[in-house]
Amino acid sequence: MTNIHPIHDRIVQRAEREIGNGHRAGVIWLTGLSGSGKSTIAAAVERELFTAGHFVVLLDGDNVRTGLCGDLGFSLEDRKENIRRIAETARLFVAAGAQVLCSFVSPTREIRAMAQDIIGAEDFYEVFVNTPLEVCEARDVKGLYAKARAGEIKGFTGIDSPYEAPENPFLDLKTAEQTVAASAQEVVRAIRNELTLQG
Ligand SMILES: Nc1ncnc2c1ncn2[C@@H]1O[C@H](COP(=O)(O)OP(=O)(O)O)[C@@H](O)[C@H]1O
Ligand SMILES: [Mg+2]
Repeated sequence: MTNIHPIHDRIVQRAEREIGNGHRAGVIWLTGLSGSGKSTIAAAVERELFTAGHFVVLLDGDNVRTGLCGDLGFSLEDRKENIRRIAETARLFVAAGAQVLCSFVSPTREIRAMAQDIIGAEDFYEVFVNTPLEVCEARDVKGLYAKARAGEIKGFTGIDSPYEAPENPFLDLKTAEQTVAASAQEVVRAIRNELTLQG
């Protein structure tokens, strides 16, 4: 790119920040259907890690779509651009030493592969919030499934837009079989084990 001058040799290095924080940085990417439990689990994990003194940041569908991605809709193309911006944002936070929780439907393998490419495979931990469609629909936290079934929302993931389950996720959370606290604990434990300074 013209007139862009990297400043890598002047900025505070990620490794220095990680030592200061007492943990490594990384992105925990939660994917799953609407109502699967991504936001609920991510918020519980954020609270616990924050309380333990971690530098933790939560990027969630609902906060990102009002600002950073407020101009985007839900076509596959817009979903892709949405995820691209989020992944770039997560990458900046990783460079700043943060543990970033990203909770987005991110419905296709292609979209998640793009996020992983942007963030870097070594910093990307895919968490499948694995809740059957029937359970998500029965929960219907936001009443969106009812609207999608009534044809009031088009292109709703799981109804008339595809969701492709991860093939080899870092974690596979079966939320229909466990409490919120147990699901969150699985994520916290994995982050604590994986993102140590020695690791
Ligand atoms: N083990 C679990 N993990 C996460 N959520 C659960 C679990 N069991 C039940 N739930 C409920 O499922 C709903 C998930 O909603 P939400 O977190 O908004 O989903 P998403 O962000 O994936 O759309 C919440 O009402 C939550 O209390
Ligand atoms: Mg959510």
